[in-house]
Amino acid sequence: MNDLTQLMVAMEPLSPDLTINEVAEILLSEENRRFLCIPVVDRGRPIGTVSRNQLESIFMTIYGRDLYGKNKVTQLMNASPLMVEVKLPMEQAAQYITANMQAPITEDFVITHDGVYHGMGSVIDLLSAMERRVAERNVELGKAYRSLKESQSQLVHSEKMASLGQMVAGVAHEINTPLGYVKNNVEMAHEIHKDMVGLVAGFKALLALFDAEDADERAVSLQLQQVEAMAAEFEENFPQEDVAGLYGDTLYGIEQISEMVLNLKNFSRLDQAAVSNVSVNECIDSALLIAKNVVKHKAEVVKAYGEIPNVSCSPSQINQVFLNLLTNAAQSIDDFGTITVKTWAEGGYVHASVQDNGKGIERQHLKKIFDPFFTTKPVGKGTGLGLSITFKILQQHKGKLRVGSEPGAGTRFVISLPLQQTQPVLKEAV
Ligand SMILES: Nc1ncnc2c1ncn2[C@@H]1O[C@H](COP(=O)(O)OP(=O)(O)OP(=O)(O)O)[C@@H](O)[C@H]1O
Ligand SMILES: [Mg+2]
Repeated sequence: MNDLTQLMVAMEPLSPDLTINEVAEILLSEENRRFLCIPVVDRGRPIGTVSRNQLESIFMTIYGRDLYGKNKVTQLMNASPLMVEVKLPMEQAAQYITANMQAPITEDFVITHDGVYHGMGSVIDLLSAMERRVAERNVELGKAYRSLKESQSQLVHSEKMASLGQMVAGVAHEINTPLGYVKNNVEMAHEIHKDMVGLVAGFKALLALFDAEDADERAVSLQLQQVEAMAAEFEENFPQEDVAGLYGDTLYGIEQISEMVLNLKNFSRLDQAAVSNVSVNECIDSALLIAKNVVKHKAEVVKAYGEIPNVSCSPSQINQVFLNLLTNAAQSIDDFGTITVKTWAEGGYVHASVQDNGKGIERQHLKKIFDPFFTTKPVGKGTGLGLSITFKILQQHKGKLRVGSEPGAGTRFVISLPLQQTQPVLKEAV
């Protein structure tokens, strides 16, 4: 069913031959009380409308009824009434009517069908229908907005899971190297232990021969030779300094593993609330350690840390910021380059810059890089969320994020964090 037909009233139109007095009777009759206008139709074609207002204004003047009452209704009618084709959608009809209305609200409109009179529509009905429609649209929009928000947060979640997966793979690799040589060393210690058990047994046998009442000198000297040979072989196989080094290396490897585990724990701390006394330099070190696997094949990292005061921030979120910037820097380098990380304090802020000599950012892309999902990386490589998350985190910290880039020469991101947070940092970045 067409929209406008819902509003249409099949009203009996006036003939152009009627007089104003006759029309007054019709318009003022009980059944037509609710209409503001009555159409005048000549051989099917609407030629005007008579409004209650016009009629009343005539009848209220002295002798109005006597002077004009016998005139034809065509003299009183509005000869250019608002007319809309019934096929027009309601929105378009409403737009047309509101744009062309001369007497707002008191002017109803004629509905035609291929130019032939079809019925009347009232502006008040149209307004309330439009209002209902707007309310329905609002509900629909609200639903669409909520589902969009939901899928956005699902995407952000999967981006976080993907980067978590990447990070875990990197960290696993970092743990695997020391774990490999710790395992070797322990196997070696096991060999040493087996040889030592043999040596101890040799010495015990020698002691037993010494203690025996009927000690046979030949047997003693034979056992002595055997023990000496075993000891010499042991020393040759396992020189003392090597053995000492073995334990040193093993301990170092274990320390590396526990440092990595501790870092991982710090890095992904679930509490995202701001804490005071966070060292930005340490956050960068933390991110560098986590990003090591991605960065080490791509760039030498030059650290130029300044003496900076601690800030109050959410360390896990700031770690995430540096991880994003360092990953982007490494990914921008084709062969092998340099990433320079600098920190300094100035004007109530701590600043940190991450600069690379990678391929840079095209001028026309610069405006878009903070938009969610903007990426120049191939499908599966980048989701385009890294910088938008970074931007959001800094916004929530009342901080700043700036970028400067020259295509072919490199890019520099500068983040600035206020020394004090005036408000608590929100729980979630996105
Ligand atoms: N250091 C940089 N050098 C060159 N281009 C960069 C650099 N950092 C960001 N960009 C550009 O900005 C785009 C958006 O970066 P962003 O970190 O938001 O997403 P991404 O790295 O493409 O994907 P994701 O971070 O989700 O893996 C990148 O695709 C890249 O074109
Ligand atoms: Mg990125």
